Amino acid sequence: MKIGVERGDIVTSAADTLIVNLFEGVTTPGGATGAVDKALNGAITDLITGGDFKGKAGEIAVVYPRGAIAARRVLIVGLGKADTFNLESVRRAAATGIKRARDLNAQHVASIVHGAGIGGLDITAATQATLEGSLLATYRFDAQKKKEPANELASLTLIEHDGGRIEAIKSAVKTTEAIVAGVSLARDLVNMPPNVATPTRLAEAAQAMADAHGLGIIIGDRQWAAERKMGAYLAVALGAGEPPKFIVLEHNADRTDLPTVVLVGKGITFDTGGISIKPSERMGDMKSDMGGAAAVLGAMEAVGRLDIPLRIIGITPCTENMPDANAYRPADVITASNGKSIEIISTDAEGRMVLADALVHAETYKPDVVIDLATLTGACVVALGGGVAAGLFSNDDALRDKLLAAADATFERLWPLPLFEDYRRAINSDVADMKNSGGRMGGVGTSAVFLREFTNYPWAHLDIAGMALSEKAGDYAPVGGTGFGVRLLISYLQGVAAGN
Ligand code: BES
Ligand code: MN
Ligand code: ZN
Repeated sequence: MKIGVERGDIVTSAADTLIVNLFEGVTTPGGATGAVDKALNGAITDLITGGDFKGKAGEIAVVYPRGAIAARRVLIVGLGKADTFNLESVRRAAATGIKRARDLNAQHVASIVHGAGIGGLDITAATQATLEGSLLATYRFDAQKKKEPANELASLTLIEHDGGRIEAIKSAVKTTEAIVAGVSLARDLVNMPPNVATPTRLAEAAQAMADAHGLGIIIGDRQWAAERKMGAYLAVALGAGEPPKFIVLEHNADRTDLPTVVLVGKGITFDTGGISIKPSERMGDMKSDMGGAAAVLGAMEAVGRLDIPLRIIGITPCTENMPDANAYRPADVITASNGKSIEIISTDAEGRMVLADALVHAETYKPDVVIDLATLTGACVVALGGGVAAGLFSNDDALRDKLLAAADATFERLWPLPLFEDYRRAINSDVADMKNSGGRMGGVGTSAVFLREFTNYPWAHLDIAGMALSEKAGDYAPVGGTGFGVRLLISYLQGVAAGN
């Protein structure tokens, strides 16, 4: 879908479909909605007074002008109550409108920027939210299946009356297209079956973005990792038939004058549990166990396109976790690249193993901040719910607050969880520096303190288990890979770049 920006009056647009909006409780539409209403001889007012349309969130009405204006149809989307209105209301309203337009076989759509009028939102943020809702709602994964292609919209034009806002809208469109490209890539990678989205395929995706945006890249194989004594990562890879790939993407690597942020993503392309094998029910969901890596790769795609003025490094340790004659086993003792030894309790606690060596590797960049994202524990999903929020752990209050602000702005929700010393005691081992599992109780906290053993910088860990894959469609996401984390990371990085 081609995105355009035009200064003018939506009433006279040449698009076949117009999208305007209404707050709940408004009886006389104003602004662009009012202008369309007037041109249609009060058709929208009539819907409101007749009680057919109330402007509730998620509500939509279709009006047919029948020649009164050029457009064939006008969609009015509800914005909900003005007092609870925010950027998420905008994303959802935009998604409601564009999905209906698509289902009505529209080709050219014109929309106002939701929320920048009486909604009072900043024009840049409102444009970004309108476009995020529109573009992410129409995302499709082109599965390897023969089927009728859904209607593809040809264009979406944002129409703004106030000429003073056009430049801000155009620049927000560019930013949003970069971010949506990142989210779509992350969704694609999670949606691919695990025999396709192998570590090798993830490395190819990384190489493609390095070529496109001039990023530095390292694709480490088994030998590369062995030279760096990455015993924890390699232990998980022992049972893998697919070659493991330790991927590093570098943006502005030589600009050591800039603040350095390292992003680390768990890249288990399929988690069977290994020798501590998982039950077969829903095991297929574990194709999403590279959701952290997908988020980091998606974020790096957006970082490259936006050329964010920071030194940003993306690290994704990728491998399958398979049972095999060569696989690592419970009771094995493994040494990670920082020299710490780990007693294996469960080979299904593999995510923290691959992250351990990635977090140690992050140190080589002398980072100001390291953020890891991982589908790490079922316990996090039990605590916070599937698709509700990711768990947030941090050893740095300022970093935690910035991530919470980014979560609020993007509606990619995070919820802070504690790094109590009790959790550290739960992974004490008689034979090694630590165990790789503290058992069922407090499983999300014990996994986080395990990771902390491999950090010595301001650090945050996001447990995104339950967020990477959705079995229900969201307002602006179909079933499947969500791309969770990409918008959050970019919002955080933009904040750091702006000096916040
Ligand atoms: N990849 C899983 C965690 C997971 C569960 C992600 C549900 C997404 C949805 C992880 O590798 C795992 O198996 N964790 C174990 C840890 C345990 C063995 C200490 C778990 O949560 O049960
Ligand atoms: Mn596991
Ligand atoms: Zn896993």
